[in-house]
Amino acid sequence: MDQSPIAVNEYDTFRRYLEDACGIVLGENKHYLVTSRLKRVTEEFSFPSLSEMMATLVKGNDRNLREKVIDAMTTNETMWFRDIYPFEILTKELLPELAKNKSPIRIWSAASSTGQEAYSISMAISEFQQSNPGKLSSNVEIVGTDISQTVVNKAKQGHYDELSVVRGLEQQRRDKFFTHKDDGWVVNPDIRKRTRFTELNLLNNYSLLGQFDIIFCRNVLIYFSSEMKKDILERMAKILKPGGTLILGGSESPTGYTKAFGMKRYPDGVVYRLNE
Ligand SMILES: C[S@@+](CC[C@H](N)C(=O)[O-])C[C@H]1O[C@@H](n2cnc3c(N)ncnc32)[C@H](O)[C@@H]1O
Repeated sequence: MDQSPIAVNEYDTFRRYLEDACGIVLGENKHYLVTSRLKRVTEEFSFPSLSEMMATLVKGNDRNLREKVIDAMTTNETMWFRDIYPFEILTKELLPELAKNKSPIRIWSAASSTGQEAYSISMAISEFQQSNPGKLSSNVEIVGTDISQTVVNKAKQGHYDELSVVRGLEQQRRDKFFTHKDDGWVVNPDIRKRTRFTELNLLNNYSLLGQFDIIFCRNVLIYFSSEMKKDILERMAKILKPGGTLILGGSESPTGYTKAFGMKRYPDGVVYRLNE
C-alpha cells in the first residue's frame, strides 16, 4: 500500500471528524500517526485507498467503520490501581464517610477502557468491607462506560492475559480476586457482581445513568478541547449527589473550566468535591 502521508485537506477533514465524533483534538503535526493508523483500517475494510475510506467515513452511515476508526485513534492504556492514590483516598476517606449513612453507593468509572479501573474500585470495596464488617451498605454499584465497544466487551468478559494481570496488581490481590483460566485470569464473581459495563460517548447525554456518589474520570479529558472539558465537567456535576466526589487523572483539573467543584486535599492526593 502507498506509504505517503495523508493529504493536508484530508487531514483537516479528519481532525474535524474525530473531534465531532468523540471529542479528541488532534495536534497540527500528527500526520504520520494518523496515516499509519488509518491505513490499517483502510486495509482491514479492503478499501482501495485511504481517500476512499475517508469518503465513506465522513458520509457517516457505516457504523462499523466509524467504530474501528475511533478505536484506532484512542489510547486504551490502563492498569490495575492506576496511580494508587485515588484508591487510597477511596478506602481511607470516601468510603468511611459514605459508611456513615449506609445508603446505597453508586460509582461511575467514565472512560473505563478494559475494566481495570472499575474492578480495582470493586476490589478496594471488598477490602474495606472485610476490615469494616457491616459498616458499608451492601448495595454498591460500579458503572463502567467507554466509547469503544471493543474495550467494553473486554471489560465485560473480565478475562486478562498474564501480561495485563500483573500491571499494577500485587500477587496477593490476584490470588484473592481472580481465578486462573486458560492462558490468563478471570475476575471472581464477588468482584464482578457490583460492576456493569456499557458503551457511552462522553459527548452524549448522561441522564440515563442516574446519580452517583463518586465519579472516576481519569486520563481522558486530556484529549479534549477546553469547551468539551467544560461541557463534560458541568454535566458530570449535575449527576453527582450533593457532596459527591470527582476523581480526575494526575494531570487533569476542573480549574478554569467550571466552578462546580472545589479542590479537596488529602494526605494521599487531591480530589474534587461538588460545591454546595
Ligand atoms: C487512557 S484510557 C483511560 C482508562 C482509565 N480511565 C484509566 O485512567 O486507566 C482512555 C479511554 O477513554 C476512552 N474514550 C476516548 N474518548 C471517549 C469519549 N468521547 N467517550 C467515552 N470514552 C472515550 C477510550 O476509548 C479509552 O478507553
